[in-house]
Amino acid sequence: MLALTYQGSKDVRVETVPDPVLMADDDIILRVTATAICGSDLHIYRGKIPMMKDGDILGHEFMGVVEDVGVGVTRVQRGDRVVIPFVIACGACFYCNKSLFAGCENTNPGRGAILNKKSATAGAGLFGYSHLYGGYPGGQAEFVRVPKANVGPIKIPDVLSDEQVLFLSDILPTGYQAAVNAQLGPGSSVAILGAGPVGLMAAASAKFLGAEKIFMIDHHAYRLAFARDTYGVIPINFDEDDDPADTILKATGGHGVDATIDAVGFEAKGSALESALTAVKLEGSSGQALRQCIAATRRGGVVSVPGVYAGFIHGFLFGDAFEKGLIFKMGQTHAQLYMPELLEHIGNGMLKPEVIITHRMPLSDARKGYEIFEKKEQDCRKVVLTP
Ligand SMILES: NC(=O)c1ccc[n+]([C@@H]2O[C@H](COP(=O)([O-])OP(=O)(O)OC[C@H]3O[C@@H](n4cnc5c(N)ncnc54)[C@H](O)[C@@H]3O)[C@@H](O)[C@H]2O)c1
Ligand SMILES: [Zn+2]
Ligand SMILES: [Zn+2]
Repeated sequence: MLALTYQGSKDVRVETVPDPVLMADDDIILRVTATAICGSDLHIYRGKIPMMKDGDILGHEFMGVVEDVGVGVTRVQRGDRVVIPFVIACGACFYCNKSLFAGCENTNPGRGAILNKKSATAGAGLFGYSHLYGGYPGGQAEFVRVPKANVGPIKIPDVLSDEQVLFLSDILPTGYQAAVNAQLGPGSSVAILGAGPVGLMAAASAKFLGAEKIFMIDHHAYRLAFARDTYGVIPINFDEDDDPADTILKATGGHGVDATIDAVGFEAKGSALESALTAVKLEGSSGQALRQCIAATRRGGVVSVPGVYAGFIHGFLFGDAFEKGLIFKMGQTHAQLYMPELLEHIGNGMLKPEVIITHRMPLSDARKGYEIFEKKEQDCRKVVLTP
């Protein structure tokens, strides 16, 4: 089969690789009909995620048709159309029983990404996301093996198209979890940093939950303009305004917003010092987006972080967060928890995640897709690949 493989920093290639086979009783083999490139894939693409091996198949946002089932699979049948969550969860462990699926203790034979780990268990395995997360082959491929098929896959009614439901695999639940974690409700104010796919899904979710005022910060004018036109956000371009947090404070009577959502993560732009320190590995992450979040949130408010972080940040103003009495919520998305309700809201027309798609290409052009998405060329917001 054809699959998009990692071959080193900025080098991904579509290659012919062996077809996947069933390995456990509760596995299925999925024939992929649509798959997307995620901002998380860009961290891998830029060589920033450790424990990638040459030839690893990428991709954790995918859906398709069940081609083959293990003898223990009861939830789906051959021929069913399903979306697969990017988190692989057993459904039965200590954390799965708390619906904290991204903490599943039974699916990651790797070590996970906690630095000061001691004897803690690793978090869940993830598709196509390095050997830290189990080394599972991803779904930017013609076929993929899906473990724990009695827990993850969700069946899709025929009336809904692939594009309407594909983002249930990751970015829609991620944006939604970010908005729920931010404790948004009718009348809330929120600032979302990052107008990429995750930030846009957070904006859609914030609106859906009734937020009244949504600021959005990025430096890609075309992404901000789309968010303004689609979700009614107040855009702030940090190339033109070098202190968005202060602008937000001034626009909210000096208080700040009820919540901020960091949909940027550890590669945030804006601090030359941190970029230099990170390059020589004296710094783990850029703290730029988090500092803006802490500064822009009102006392007692929430900083919600869907953006991915790894390791340490020196310039993290924990004392400011303490003084303001802030609440922090973050982490990988417990996708399985939110997929059923979000599918319902796609079905009833309340959520239309597919509107962010700008690029549709065959899987064979995936290398080009990565280039365009990474460089933000052609006003790219989201790339969907079809095998
Ligand atoms: N928690 C999860 O489970 C989960 C799931 C999916 C993605 N993610 C993470 O979410 C983040 C965003 O993903 P995406 O697909 O939207 O990626 P993306 O790269 O397309 O978007 C990131 C956006 O942030 C902007 N940005 C950079 N520095 C900024 C700054 N200092 N202030 C404001 N904006 C800034 C960029 O210009 C870009 O538009 C990534 O870190 C990704 O790994 C997390
Ligand atoms: Zn993703
Ligand atoms: Zn589990």
